[in-house]
Amino acid sequence: MNTLGPLSEELTARMNETLRDEDPLLGKLPTPQPGDDLVAVLPAASKRAVGVVRQVDTPLDSPVSLWRASTLESLQLRHEPHCSSRDIAEVLDAWLDSPEPAVSETGGDRARSVRIPVITTQAIIPLIERGFAPSTVTLARRLSSPPLRPIHRTEVLVRPAIENDRHRMRELMRELVSTEIPFGAVRERTATLSDTYADEAVSLDPGWAVVAELRGEVIGWANIAPPELSTWAADSVSTRPAAYLGVAIVSRAFRAGGVGHALVSDLHAHAASAGVDTVLLDASAQNPWSMPFWQREGYRPLWTTWQRRQPQGL
Ligand SMILES: CC(C)(COP(=O)(O)OP(=O)(O)OC[C@H]1O[C@@H](n2cnc3c(N)ncnc32)[C@H](O)[C@@H]1OP(=O)(O)O)[C@@H](O)C(=O)NCCC(=O)NCCS
Repeated sequence: MNTLGPLSEELTARMNETLRDEDPLLGKLPTPQPGDDLVAVLPAASKRAVGVVRQVDTPLDSPVSLWRASTLESLQLRHEPHCSSRDIAEVLDAWLDSPEPAVSETGGDRARSVRIPVITTQAIIPLIERGFAPSTVTLARRLSSPPLRPIHRTEVLVRPAIENDRHRMRELMRELVSTEIPFGAVRERTATLSDTYADEAVSLDPGWAVVAELRGEVIGWANIAPPELSTWAADSVSTRPAAYLGVAIVSRAFRAGGVGHALVSDLHAHAASAGVDTVLLDASAQNPWSMPFWQREGYRPLWTTWQRRQPQGL
């Protein structure tokens, strides 16, 4: 199947118009790309809502599998701007009544997910009633908005990451993953899988990855991928150039002392000087520390990804 059909296309166009009117920063709804595995298009009887189901298989040795079940079925909702929760519930039920896809490889896991604009509130109760919970929230900040917090002078030095930091950045990346696993958005995989993210950050041009150093020890790091490496995420916002903040980690003993703020502020200044308009990121929705931090850095939520994880071993 490679087209959505006229009803989904019409609803997609109308929904995009409404979303743009309600929140000009919201990007467009995703459309299937060549190679997407489109499984089904499920309309409600009223024709006011449609669900587009696709399946994504991710090998367990791919770093992306840290953030994604190895067999993921996602539903994209398309609906009349003011359709009822009942229309959405009907689409969800048609989807959930269909058999779960078989896990794509030994030791793999399964989940179903739905990503909605935060303003699509009529989908929330049907999702909760069907056992879904928010997994991640996509937040964005326009760099033209003023900083919300002053940077306090500390002994901490923020500087561009260099090759010699690679080992310590890998360790901190593993700490980030183990911190996030209990909150449900990051998955338990082999310990070295996250090293790739530290390696990628070190190879960015100077200034796009920064470390925080205290008395010679690196205690945290963060990075923003420049716009040309952030195109996969950029459609979540309408503004350009958009750049993706992938990692922010401060080692546990040093948290809540302004180090995260100093790292992020430095990255913002660098991205602004490179002409970036908007920075976006995905934060763990179930980690109660996460959202307050990002909101205090001036980010606001645009999309929520709801997830229903299949218990492992079932
Ligand atoms: C999120 C994180 C990078 C922030 O760095 P930080 O140095 O703790 O942040 P700051 O000191 O600048 O800001 C602290 C604020 O962030 C929030 N916060 C986030 N995590 C916190 C934590 N573990 N402990 C206390 N406050 C935390 C609070 O709102 C706090 O506000 P306060 O200063 O009024 O108490 C860091 O806490 C961390 O590495 N957490 C674990 C990994 C993570 O969640 N990364 C972000 C997702 S990619």
